[in-house]
Amino acid sequence: MSERAGDHARVVIKYLGSKRLLLGPIVAAVKGFGEVERAVDLFSGTSRVGRALKAAGLHVTANDHLAFAATLARCYVAADRARWAGPAEALLAELAETPPRAGYFTQAFCEDARYLQPDNGARVDAIRDAIAARGLPPALEAIALTSLMEAADRVDSTTGVQMAYLKGWARRSFNPLTLRLPALIDGEGEALQLEAEEAAEVDADVAYLDPPYNQHSYLGNYHVWETLVRWDAPETYGVANKRVDCKTYKNPFNSRVRIADALARVVARVRARHLVVSFSDEGNLTRAQLEEMLAERGHVRVLSTDFKRYVGAQIGIFNPSGEKVGKVSHLRNRERLFLVSPDRAAVERAEAAARDAFAAAATRPASARAGDRG
Ligand SMILES: C[S@@+](CC[C@H](N)C(=O)[O-])C[C@H]1O[C@@H](n2cnc3c(N)ncnc32)[C@H](O)[C@@H]1O
Repeated sequence: MSERAGDHARVVIKYLGSKRLLLGPIVAAVKGFGEVERAVDLFSGTSRVGRALKAAGLHVTANDHLAFAATLARCYVAADRARWAGPAEALLAELAETPPRAGYFTQAFCEDARYLQPDNGARVDAIRDAIAARGLPPALEAIALTSLMEAADRVDSTTGVQMAYLKGWARRSFNPLTLRLPALIDGEGEALQLEAEEAAEVDADVAYLDPPYNQHSYLGNYHVWETLVRWDAPETYGVANKRVDCKTYKNPFNSRVRIADALARVVARVRARHLVVSFSDEGNLTRAQLEEMLAERGHVRVLSTDFKRYVGAQIGIFNPSGEKVGKVSHLRNRERLFLVSPDRAAVERAEAAARDAFAAAATRPASARAGDRG
């Protein structure tokens, strides 16, 4: 596997709960268990973690039940750079020449709502239609869609979630949308779009679990990406112009009362011997609840660290008219990593490796950390 230095910083959609700052400790823990060849990421989101594990030489399966996240997984985890980088580069160069043509996306997300400037919306519409018209092989289609999603994200006008957009246009939204080749990794992996409970049965040595931890659904927060990938022109509602299925989407992981049962069901079905679980101290499960649940699978070790909270919390919460509607409570939260294995020596090795990686990350120069994007 090969990866250029800094490549991980190029995986750029802004995503709540993205684990960019924890990549080192997570990879170190996974490898620290010892004799690990296959990993499965059951809630893969941006696929940053699966991508980092693949770059570290593991065979990775990444799963997420949303279509845009499964597309990121097909690009970063499943697609082999050696096979697809060349064709993808040629395809992106052709797509970049597509004449802009405003359609559903421009109307819904750039005029009725204001996530992107209409000029860029017309580019998105035209390129997305061109991708659909080509009948591409799945890997190439996923790379093109990822490139388009990331291009749109670089010129959006939000704080990083799509529950609202900024009152005035963000400065970056004035830049023209441009496609770049996603930072692919050599080797093949697997991408799934299943409920985590089903994906838990994938054959692997280590399972990584990073479930949603509060009431905000990822479908609601990233509905524009879901529509861009599904390209199904759904009916929308409200100021944020969300897909109408956001109203009926019910996920137990977003429910304070149902998450414990939902996560316990996934944990029980995990086929892998070792587990790594991420959970925030702001989530709907306490450290003690998680430790008790995970103890069913063996010895449990817990590591935690402080992180700056997401940008909405940094600057206050605003409604679409730019009025401050939420108060900043505190600016740091603690991310916990739970390491679990029936083999005590293995979990102790994983813990030591993750601690070393935390220490190394904490001493990285600020200039290197500033290159990371969330
Ligand atoms: C905290 S995020 C994961 C972030 C990811 N580790 C990263 O670094 O980008 C949780 C993810 O779980 C997905 N998800 C929520 N419920 C799920 C379920 N029942 N089955 C599979 N995926 C689910 C969401 O779509 C979201 O992408």
